[in-house]
Amino acid sequence: MTRSTQNHRAWWKESSVYQIWPASFKDSNNDGVGDIPGIISQLDYIKNLGVDIVWLCPSYKSPQVDMGYDIADYYSIADEYGTVADVEELIQGCHARGMKLLMDLVVNHTSDQHEWFKQSRSSKDNEYRNWYIWKPAKYDEQGNRHPPNNWVSHFQGSAWEWDELTGEYYLHLYATEQPDLNWEHPPVRKAVHDIMRFWLDKGANGFRMDVINFISKDQRFLDAPIKDPRTPWQWGDKWYANGPRLHEYLQDLGKILKEYDTFSVGEMPFVKDTNEVLKAVQYDRNELNMIFNFEHVDIDHGVYDKFEPGSFKLTDLKGFFERWQKFMYDNDGWNALYWENHDQPRSIDRFANAKEEHRLVASKMLATVLALQSGSPFVYQGQELGMRNVPPEWGMEEYKDIDCLNHWNRMLKDRASETEAHAIARQEYQKKSRDNGRTPVQWTSEPNGGFTGPDVKPWMSVNPDYARGINAEAEVKDPNSTYHYWAAVLGLRKKYLDIFVYGDYELVDRDSQKVFAYTRTYENQKALVLANWTEDALEWDPAVHGVDGAREVLLDSYDKADAAKERFSGAKWTLQPYEAVVLLL
Ligand code: GLC
Ligand code: CA
Repeated sequence: MTRSTQNHRAWWKESSVYQIWPASFKDSNNDGVGDIPGIISQLDYIKNLGVDIVWLCPSYKSPQVDMGYDIADYYSIADEYGTVADVEELIQGCHARGMKLLMDLVVNHTSDQHEWFKQSRSSKDNEYRNWYIWKPAKYDEQGNRHPPNNWVSHFQGSAWEWDELTGEYYLHLYATEQPDLNWEHPPVRKAVHDIMRFWLDKGANGFRMDVINFISKDQRFLDAPIKDPRTPWQWGDKWYANGPRLHEYLQDLGKILKEYDTFSVGEMPFVKDTNEVLKAVQYDRNELNMIFNFEHVDIDHGVYDKFEPGSFKLTDLKGFFERWQKFMYDNDGWNALYWENHDQPRSIDRFANAKEEHRLVASKMLATVLALQSGSPFVYQGQELGMRNVPPEWGMEEYKDIDCLNHWNRMLKDRASETEAHAIARQEYQKKSRDNGRTPVQWTSEPNGGFTGPDVKPWMSVNPDYARGINAEAEVKDPNSTYHYWAAVLGLRKKYLDIFVYGDYELVDRDSQKVFAYTRTYENQKALVLANWTEDALEWDPAVHGVDGAREVLLDSYDKADAAKERFSGAKWTLQPYEAVVLLL
């Protein structure tokens, strides 16, 4: 028996996911903000893409300091998005179309406006005091006050905030308004379990779990070893990422997840060690189904932070994928596959760095390479349309994200007058800021791209390229669009389930900086995914790479499969700029 038949089969491995970031999806009532009824109105559009699951990013009550990742009440929905009844209708709408719905579970921290935190900060003997992480100050010989340790927040500055009222610091690994919960305290864990059951009982089918590997902190709260002084936000991971009790906590969550037969994906920054991840995702351990790792999306970060200029080599990108692909396959784990989400820029600009004339072919190439690997593919809203980063000419007033704005304000503070560093930072925001993935979805060629009413000022401007055919209405009509191509890729994955879901993965032409190619093999069935990562046509010699001809073209990004057949029958194959082809060998 080959390894491929030993790995477990599961419905969630066969599923693909469409991610919705509610503020920018679709505005139903012309207040400039997307909402749940807007999502409900587009369920057929989502279904027709061929996905199985909708992941709804946080829609709970929130002061929106971090766009809903700061939750003030896990049991109600933000007024601007709708009501719990709307979410119930959304769940039913998904189910009626044979799709499932995931909620976002953000439980490493809450909003500082959550009732638990209000209680907790009110006095040292309040019953909620222990729900968060409070520590006394440290004082130096001069009597100056310092935070308990040197941990730095992911959104700039110390991870500790002094609270005058009770004279202690609380921990916040993200914004000051996002205090970390204390998972050591059993009532916190119970509260999380209750939240999960509440939404599962309403029919939700699982969760995406925000920074879930941060929930268990090393209880000594030691200073982090100072690594590179320019990257203080990287020092502390040793003490709070993948902490001592992480798997105990995940086992508890896993019991509930299993009971409801859910889909689960955990976000896990700072993991490079595959064995560490395996503890969370190996089939028999019953913790999570899969995780989002960050290696490939951190690939172009500069030395200092993500807003420093950086670049990457295709061989490194292929190397990251290969490592995770092989490892999970050999160990009965599972991968989540993504290029984009609400924290990442648009993939066409980032990974393909494509000019406008190549937008369409580049988007198709990226879809092919990603979704036919081993794992569950995630499509982020607008990715199916080939949406791009914000226009380079946009000024700072168009940027809304706390991560980007904190960085900018810090720059202004450090160097008050405009310098070259400012100019570089602004260029980098257009490449890497989370804002790039957060512009509203482009629905039509009408003003505001049909996201909201034509006379409304949307909460974030719409990328003006909606008027150039990058919109859902135009793409649904055009059989040659990115939208239909994504549907074809996801359809192919389903049609050849054994190969593309359960098959083994082998990188081909490993050292090429121009070609991303791999085979998928299941028993005696084998397919080759071959992609030209460059803007020039190139010639590829199959025999050199151990491929002795193709039996059938399953999909090609330039031609109909039949028409492409001729091109992949000779001794040398020519690939057009950014062309992707899938061949049955
Ligand atoms: C995750 C979310 C991100 C958020 C952060 C803090 O990384 O994806 O949007 O800012 O956690 O909750
Ligand atoms: Ca609205």
